[in-house]
Amino acid sequence: MRNSSVRRSQIIGTGGYLPTMVLSNDALAAAYGLDTTDAWITERTGIRQRHVAAPDELASDLGAAAAREALAQAGVDASEVDLIIVATATPDSGFPATAVRIQQKLGVPGGFAFDVAAACTGFVYALGVADSLIRTGAARTALVIGAEVFTRILDWTDRGTCVLFGDGAGAVVLRAGDGEGSADDRGVLGTHLHSDGRFGDLLHVDIAGAPAGSPQGVVRMAGREVFRHAVGKLAAAVDEALVAAGLTHEDVNWLVPHQANLRIIEAMGRKLHLAPERVVVTVDRHANTSAASIPLALAEATRDGRIKTGDLVVMEAIGGGLTWGAALARF
Ligand code: UT7
Repeated sequence: MRNSSVRRSQIIGTGGYLPTMVLSNDALAAAYGLDTTDAWITERTGIRQRHVAAPDELASDLGAAAAREALAQAGVDASEVDLIIVATATPDSGFPATAVRIQQKLGVPGGFAFDVAAACTGFVYALGVADSLIRTGAARTALVIGAEVFTRILDWTDRGTCVLFGDGAGAVVLRAGDGEGSADDRGVLGTHLHSDGRFGDLLHVDIAGAPAGSPQGVVRMAGREVFRHAVGKLAAAVDEALVAAGLTHEDVNWLVPHQANLRIIEAMGRKLHLAPERVVVTVDRHANTSAASIPLALAEATRDGRIKTGDLVVMEAIGGGLTWGAALARF
């Protein structure tokens, strides 16, 4: 049943940050002496290059830069923020949370801040948690950030993983709106989150078996197995989100998917019967930035004018856990 008093979390600003250093496929292969080619990486994944953080850049630095851009676009002062959630698999440290470090870097004087760990699905999870907190009235103005220095947890001798990932951060500003039934009912329409720990070993951080000098561990992935789970689980989550909102594929203006593999992204576009130009793709330039990939793509597509006020946007992601989920938002 529809409740006209339900508050909505409106997305009022987006921002992104990419480290300056760009590493092409050829440069990566040469730098690490990898038995791979630009042709293999491009054909199997769509990735042409990735950004790599400077040695002194932390996830909180990337996240704070993305958040500053999102706040500026929203016209919101840092002092108005009362909730910060950071999705990251590469936090600055075990604690304090990266979100608290960002709170300090932005000069946010109050509220509360914490991280969520859901790997590549992290942004969808963080959006769901922030939306719930706004709907209950626990927060009014939230920063939801995906920030990753994923290149810090790669095994550069493993060609099956190290060519896939990159660093970056994206952020959105959410603000409590009047909600459904009001004159302005834009905002997050729903988030649908899933996990299944039975598949935890398909994509995980290996600490015990990490090469010397990798104290945080390195990513291990059974890529083909994860691929097999991806399209079915993502399509089911998107359908679940559309049905719950009383909408259909025809209502969707944009697909902003997690950016792991162009083949998965294109398959999801076909499932939604969307023209290719309605699917936001950054994987060619950013590679897989884990929890940062969706907010980075949102920032790009709002900044360049593709996503307009009133557009219905579908977001979906799958990653380590396995975790997966979908979110629907009216911009
Ligand atoms: O973001 C979290 C979610 N992650 C995903 O959604 C990732 C899902 N998986 C994938 O995107 C793909 O499975 C990969 C891109 C990881 C791999 O592509 P694939 O088409 O599934 O390749 P594959 O793993 O089946 O490997 C095919 C061949 C293998 O050689 P053999 O056994 O056929 O001789 C690999 O050893 O390709 C080889 N290979 C490579 N060759 C050149 C694997 N990595 C490379 C490489 N360069 N970098």
